[in-house]
Amino acid sequence: MAALTDFAGRLAVVTGAGSGIGRELVAQLVAARARVAACDIRLGAVRRTRTEVLKRWPDGQVTAHECDVTDATALARFRSEMSEAHDSEALHLLINNAGAVGGASFVADDPSEWERTFAVNFHGTYLTTRAFLPMLLAADQGVVVNVASVNALWASLGSGTAHTAYSTAKFAVRGFTESLIGDFALHAPHLSAVLVLPGHVRTAMPPPPPPWRRAFNAALAHTSATTASDAAVQILHGIQTGQWRILIGADAERVDELIRADPTSGYS
Ligand SMILES: NC(=O)c1ccc[n+]([C@@H]2O[C@H](COP(=O)([O-])OP(=O)(O)OC[C@H]3O[C@@H](n4cnc5c(N)ncnc54)[C@H](O)[C@@H]3O)[C@@H](O)[C@H]2O)c1
Repeated sequence: MAALTDFAGRLAVVTGAGSGIGRELVAQLVAARARVAACDIRLGAVRRTRTEVLKRWPDGQVTAHECDVTDATALARFRSEMSEAHDSEALHLLINNAGAVGGASFVADDPSEWERTFAVNFHGTYLTTRAFLPMLLAADQGVVVNVASVNALWASLGSGTAHTAYSTAKFAVRGFTESLIGDFALHAPHLSAVLVLPGHVRTAMPPPPPPWRRAFNAALAHTSATTASDAAVQILHGIQTGQWRILIGADAERVDELIRADPTSGYS
């Protein structure tokens, strides 16, 4: 993958920027002198991100936008707002970070919650990439970064738990991202796609339940959560060094090794 070695002056979009990993990505991109359009479904939260970032880097170029990434009309509005605010028809970095948990059981939970979780995590990634494709095509170089999860490798949080909607969506995000690699090479060689696979990161998202630590013969028992700030450091470093697959945390690395060594062991 072609590395985006220097963020200075580049235009970036970060979704789900009102909290956690998204907020840290915005701060670190602004610190690296990128221009950033940050969005979230919660306008107050993304405005707080902007205010906090500008306190630390008063000359930073960052705009805050309300956008539900499952809504194509809202995405079109966000694209025209940010394009006008940053006076640019070209986008260099799209980070599809917005995500949410829910719809644990396909059997027992409300189908509307299941579908909403799938929509935020998968349709959000697809629709946002679709909305910004013309701006990415207009850039001299562009990178699409999709934040999936270790649940794109392993559709579980350990035995005795159900985790279906989120895992299904994150597997789809992985398939979309990996298939874009070949498509971009063929049809838009100045673009590249990056897949991020975090294990547990300490954010507003609920931590994994106790069975997580007992999975794979307790192989995850002694791993600890990554901070949102470290996760953002690793994501941006991966983009700058041309990695297309970024595992975050010792837990994600262990799951990746174990599930490939013995694909059946994760579900026992
Ligand atoms: N925290 C973890 O342990 C962990 C692990 C693996 C993957 N991830 C992934 O990392 C990404 C960031 O999550 P986080 O941990 O920072 O969580 P977070 O809850 O702190 O932040 C997620 C943000 O996404 C926003 N959001 C939710 N639905 C949205 C929508 N429809 N449109 C726009 N914004 C929306 C929320 O308002 C929130 O600000 C997500 O894709 C998540 O699935 C997190």
